[in-house]
Amino acid sequence: MEVIIRDNPEDCAQIVANVVARYLDNKDKPVLGLATGSTPERMYKKLIELNRAGRISFKKTTSFNLDEYVGLPPDHPQSYHAYMKEKLFDHIDIPFGNTNIPDGNAADLREECLQYEKRIRETGGIDLQVLGIGSNGHIGFNEPIGSLSSRTWIKILTRNTLRDNARFFEDESQVPRHVITMGIGTILEAEHCLILACGHHKSEAVQAMIEGPITSQCPASALQFHKRATAVLDVDAACLLRLKEHYRWVEENHLDWQRYDLPNRFEK
Ligand code: GLP
Repeated sequence: MEVIIRDNPEDCAQIVANVVARYLDNKDKPVLGLATGSTPERMYKKLIELNRAGRISFKKTTSFNLDEYVGLPPDHPQSYHAYMKEKLFDHIDIPFGNTNIPDGNAADLREECLQYEKRIRETGGIDLQVLGIGSNGHIGFNEPIGSLSSRTWIKILTRNTLRDNARFFEDESQVPRHVITMGIGTILEAEHCLILACGHHKSEAVQAMIEGPITSQCPASALQFHKRATAVLDVDAACLLRLKEHYRWVEENHLDWQRYDLPNRFEK
C-alpha cells in the first residue's frame, strides 16, 4: 500500500481533492466512489471551491456512495442521502440523476443490493474509490469478521460502531442497527482506492490496516491485496506506524509523475 503522511488534516484533504480533480480531468466519464463520515468533509469543501472556481466539472461524473442506513428516510438529517446533498451534491454541477446511494428504504432490500452492484457494473466500474476507516477497521460499513470478498449487502453494525456513530444522533438507541454497504469485494474492484484517516483515534485501525496481517478482524487490511491503494494520513493517525521512515523515503523518491505535492493547476 502507498502511504502518504502529512502534518495536518487540511493538507491531507488537499491531496485527496487533487487526486479526485485529476480523475475528473483525465477521464471522459469519471466514476467516483464516495464516502461519508466526518473525515471527507474538508475534502468535499475543497472540491466545491474548485467547482465554483470553474477549475473542475462534475457534469460527466457518475458517483456511487459506499453505504446507507436501513430505515432512515432520505430526508432524515443523519441519512447518508441527506449528508451527500448537504456536503457535496447541492453545491456542485453533478447531474442529480448520476448520483447513486443505496436505498435503505427499498421494499426489497436484497433486490436493491443486487441492483446496486448491477448499476456499478453497467458504468464500467469505479475509477477512484474514496474511503474513510472506522475505529475498528471497517470500510464502508463492512464490520470485523465479515467476508473479505463480500458484495453489496445488508449488514448489522457492531456495538463499537453504534457507539462511535451515536454522536450524530440523539443517543445510541437511535442509530439504525442495519445498513446496506458495498462489500469488500465490490470496493476492491475500483481502479484506485484512496483511504483518508486523521486523528489519534484512528491510529490503531490504521496500523492494523497497513502493517498488520490481512485479516477479517480488520476489514481495511484487505486493501493490502489491492493493486493500487493509497492511504493519506495525518501524523496523528500515522503515529503507531513502525515503518514511517520507510514511507517517507519512498515518497521522497517518487518520480515526478508519482508525486502528490507538485504544484498543479488544481491548487490555489
Ligand atoms: C461510518 C461510515 C464509514 C466511515 C466511518 C468513519 O461508519 N460508514 O464509511 O469511514 O464512519 O467516520 P468518521 O470519518 O466520522 O470517523
